[in-house]
Amino acid sequence: MKKKALITGISGQDGSYLSEYLLENNYEVFGIIRRNSIVEHQRNRIEQLDNQINLEYGDLMDSSSLERILNAVQPNEIYNLAAQSHVRISFEIPHFTLQTNGIGVLNLLETFRTNCPTAKFYQASSSEMFGRSVDDDNCQRETTRFEPTSPYGCAKVLAYNLVKHYRFAYSLFCSNGILFNHESPRRGSNFVTNKVVKTAVEIKLGLKNKLILGNMDSYRDWGHSKDYVVAMNKILNHKEPDDFVISTGITRSVRDLCKYVFAKLNLEMDKHIFQDKKYMRPEELKYLKGDSTKARKILNWQPKISFEELIDEMIDHWMDLFSKQK
Ligand code: GDD
Repeated sequence: MKKKALITGISGQDGSYLSEYLLENNYEVFGIIRRNSIVEHQRNRIEQLDNQINLEYGDLMDSSSLERILNAVQPNEIYNLAAQSHVRISFEIPHFTLQTNGIGVLNLLETFRTNCPTAKFYQASSSEMFGRSVDDDNCQRETTRFEPTSPYGCAKVLAYNLVKHYRFAYSLFCSNGILFNHESPRRGSNFVTNKVVKTAVEIKLGLKNKLILGNMDSYRDWGHSKDYVVAMNKILNHKEPDDFVISTGITRSVRDLCKYVFAKLNLEMDKHIFQDKKYMRPEELKYLKGDSTKARKILNWQPKISFEELIDEMIDHWMDLFSKQK
């Protein structure tokens, strides 16, 4: 019999790649989507999977919907990818972020515990939880202290701790994947990689003239979402529940990202890039560099797509799209 996977946040970047990966691996895929006034917005990343996945309306804040869905589906694996995922916006909607990314996870854990406790539970934990904390060798790993610097990071720490608590208190299979930044052409265009690539392509094609950014001196460890969803599945198929850092181990600044993109498109950065306080955060997470040795050794996971391949794929995506529109 096929294994059943239930994905919250299935319409997001990771949900769409994870669905494709699980379908290729002979899973039956179920997903929870939230009601949105523009239906197309929920489905544009998963349109190509229309007849292959089962979608249900639900919400992490609506326990009755979770209960109905988990009870009916009886999944073998639950991937909790639903969240308010934008860090800067979490400063503007802190209550909503804490509710969804913290209490929402509690709702899902409770529903899982009482309706399908033999399932395995994956929580999308985040490198944003490390905040200002870096080990002496300039890396963050599973043992690094959490010192979150945003409402988003604080909520993710709460969820991380709840997942561990449910593991120990109720002997449930619940694991955390602590994923560093991961991108793709399907990334929302208000995250920095896709904002930079999309706008630079628009500038190249004469559709725009300016790219306005916030802090260009923060460092991130950027991988490809396609590689990272493989890690999620490996985490749930490990023999015991555990927590794993997933990262490339290479860090670059936002400025380095811009340099790469602008050079690739033969554009001069100084002529087009401007900074605006509007995109700065009240507290910035300055530096991320993950050490994923544990996942590489225990799960035999490693990223396959380089930073350059990732960004080139994103450039090609926007070039194709805008050229067709032109
Ligand atoms: N979004 C955005 N927009 N970021 C900018 C901009 C801008 O105009 N200008 C500079 N930045 C900087 C941010 O200040 C941050 O230091 C860096 O670019 C990356 O920002 P994002 O791409 O928004 O990602 P993030 O690191 O805040 O959060 C992402 O990664 C986390 C994992 O650490 C999100 O995907 C989170 O959901 C995820 O958990």
